[in-house]
Amino acid sequence: MPRFAYVNGRYRPHAEAAVHIEDRGYQFADGVYEVVPVDDGALVDEDPHLDRLGRSLGALEIPWPLSRANLALIGRELVRRNGIRDGLIYIQVTRGVAPRDHGFPAKARPSLVMTTRRRRPLPAHLFDVGAKVITIPDIRWRRCDIKSIGLLPNVLGKEAARRAGAFEAWQVDDAGFITEGTSTNAWIVDAAGRLVTRDPGAAILSGVTRRALLALVAGQGITVEERPFSLAEARAAREAFLTSSTSLVMPVTAIDGAPVGSGRPGPVATALRQLYAAHVDAEAGRAP
Ligand code: PDD
Repeated sequence: MPRFAYVNGRYRPHAEAAVHIEDRGYQFADGVYEVVPVDDGALVDEDPHLDRLGRSLGALEIPWPLSRANLALIGRELVRRNGIRDGLIYIQVTRGVAPRDHGFPAKARPSLVMTTRRRRPLPAHLFDVGAKVITIPDIRWRRCDIKSIGLLPNVLGKEAARRAGAFEAWQVDDAGFITEGTSTNAWIVDAAGRLVTRDPGAAILSGVTRRALLALVAGQGITVEERPFSLAEARAAREAFLTSSTSLVMPVTAIDGAPVGSGRPGPVATALRQLYAAHVDAEAGRAP
């Protein structure tokens, strides 16, 4: 079955889909993106993902290329054409094509590229044994709340993790506090049993999974603190885990080669993983 991408108004065979060499995304990383999970053919957390796309576009003063409703429609059509049951929709919007010049062009129409990908199954044992993370200095810019396509530090960090045999790299800011992973948010259950994750300022991307999980734990009798936590605190934590649209809730059992807590996925991370799975079931229209 041919695979399709959507590029500026047209569904194109994936292999032939292309953008202009003077697209500002290619020239300056002048654009934003969003990743919407698809589960059982349904878009998961469609509204918060489109809300975040709107915030990212607004921060860069890039207009919506199409209405939210049309973006969702195209996403669904790509899912149908590409026969995706479980996967991801990528939406990428750049400022558009214009002769190279750093300042905003007087006239440019935003470029829109949408693609889909089947879910790459994570190694089955990963949830049982937990993921290893390494730590790296956070060398990113100061607007990590914008889901920018400028991902070079994230790319380098993920590659460092892979080379170290780890799943993710947690980034540490100049003050010694963990910000987030290269494509995931970071959490710990601290020595006092409190659930701690960085507050959603400019230092992290406000993950849709992160926010959904915070809403799910509200009223569960767990103390939650949205605040910076240090690497030392993470090392001394009872449990750690990470969240994202692709990893869901993933226990972290080693940081820089040292075990976290028992070195096994802990009860809180395991319970939250199940809680989040039930949320995805509901989004996908599966009966509880
Ligand atoms: N990454 N932090 C960063 C830097 C991210 O890139 C992501 C998402 C997250 C988690 O956000 P969410 O829960 O909305 O997926 C946190 C996506 C999956 C990606 O870039 O592919």
